[in-house]
Amino acid sequence: MSSDTTRQQTATADDQITRIILEAREQAYQETDHEPEPGLTAKVEWPVTCTVGPGLEGAIACESKIGYVNGSKGWLIYRGYDIFDLCAYSSYEEVAFLLLHGRLPKAREFDAFKTTLFRRMYIPETQRLLLSFPVQDMNPMAALRLGTNLMRQKQTYRDRQLEEERGRLIATDEDSIPMETRPTGKRRPVFQFISSMLRRGAAPEPDVLVGSDEIASCYNLIAGVASIAATIGRVREGRIPIEPAPDLSFAGNYLYMLTGRRPTPLEERVMDVCLILHADHGMNASTFASMVVASTLSDIYLAIGSGISALSGPLHGGANVEVIKMLDEIGSPGAVSKWYRAAQEEKKKVMGFGHRVYKAYDPRARILGPLAKLLAAESGHASKLYATAVALEKEVVASLGEKKKIFPNVDFYSGIVYECMQIPAELYTTIFAVSRVAGWCARVIEYLANNRIFRPRAIYTGSFNEEYVPVEKR
Ligand code: CMC
Repeated sequence: MSSDTTRQQTATADDQITRIILEAREQAYQETDHEPEPGLTAKVEWPVTCTVGPGLEGAIACESKIGYVNGSKGWLIYRGYDIFDLCAYSSYEEVAFLLLHGRLPKAREFDAFKTTLFRRMYIPETQRLLLSFPVQDMNPMAALRLGTNLMRQKQTYRDRQLEEERGRLIATDEDSIPMETRPTGKRRPVFQFISSMLRRGAAPEPDVLVGSDEIASCYNLIAGVASIAATIGRVREGRIPIEPAPDLSFAGNYLYMLTGRRPTPLEERVMDVCLILHADHGMNASTFASMVVASTLSDIYLAIGSGISALSGPLHGGANVEVIKMLDEIGSPGAVSKWYRAAQEEKKKVMGFGHRVYKAYDPRARILGPLAKLLAAESGHASKLYATAVALEKEVVASLGEKKKIFPNVDFYSGIVYECMQIPAELYTTIFAVSRVAGWCARVIEYLANNRIFRPRAIYTGSFNEEYVPVEKR
């Protein structure tokens, strides 16, 4: 394909997606116009008084300048910027910089940051170590956590050394799997990457960006978690990892390293928007988990590993996988009413609906819904999923929208978008993690600047004065 054609396709995809996002923004503003403006953030005097419900609902854990979620207006704001504007005009790399550094990058910094992320996607030693585990049989989120913790060992040491030695490594691509030159009794092929491409045109590691070891570790994590997630996807398909391509964006490289196919401009742009949408979201469970671990002065790799664990559950990031299972189980738009009646009788929660904070439509779902519609139009299975999802949304919102303020959340349509990109459902939550690592890192770094170990209390409701009885007398 000529570069003119590619440029043309990229421009068309950009225009199309930007239009969809701006329409969603317009609709969001109109629908929540009547909601009162929130009293914007005031200076907090500690200790702060708040009403705390079960699950720490309402508890205030810290101050933060990183992001803001307003549940009644349906606002999601990163560092002062509206999520709709970021999705329409920015990129994941820029958003990751914004979250971490607190401001948008200048042009030189942005180029340097993109180069830095690209170079740090190159983690052959971590990938090789990961492949010595049965990754293909593991839950992908468990494998992602494992890979992240392995990166702590490898990326801080061996992968950095390898960067210096690149020219001497053996080339590998999908067609030529080099076997061990000296048998060591392992069944797996040994693979290594060649990275002459990485060197070409790569700017030196930009000093301005690396403010501290922690920030450098954040760059490692943002880039490395994407490489590990892609590796897990490939290994599950019986394939070996692919090194990143220097001319692709972060989103494009993630897709390329996962599928082995260069994404179309539309796919690259849609994945970029998905990554922006998932990058941060207040004091959600996985962010809090990362912060709790970091607050013990453990290290940031272990903290992010905890975030991955917390995200994996079906009440949090794992819901996107459950949504697709549910839509498949329902089968068709015509079967929605019967399925939903049964779900109500069983008091079953509908996956992809409801939120602790949003009492209006989740702005992320406002964007993902139309993106799913656009992509699903081209695909048989996804278009059925999409039609079923629309029918289900109608039913659930009609019965619970007004009454309980329950609307679709970010996970309701994201799976359909990924399905259209032919990404296996088991990997959806890993995509959430690839993106959210930027938010986790930013919040951990911010909290550590003024660290105090997290240590809430439980109300003891157990008994007192029990008399100890020796085991043989019980
Ligand atoms: N379907 C049906 N009813 C629901 C749902 C749902 N998805 N979510 C909440 N409710 C009802 C719930 O039954 C309860 O009703 P009642 O007051 O009569 O007992 C009321 O709404 C409050 O629910 P809750 O479980 O106390 O709310 P929560 O703030 O503790 O939980 C939630 C929030 C997201 C865990 C919950 O809405 C849920 O389980 N949703 C389904 C799973 C899901 O989609 N998770 C993704 C969340 S968004 C992405 C992310 O950040 O992780």
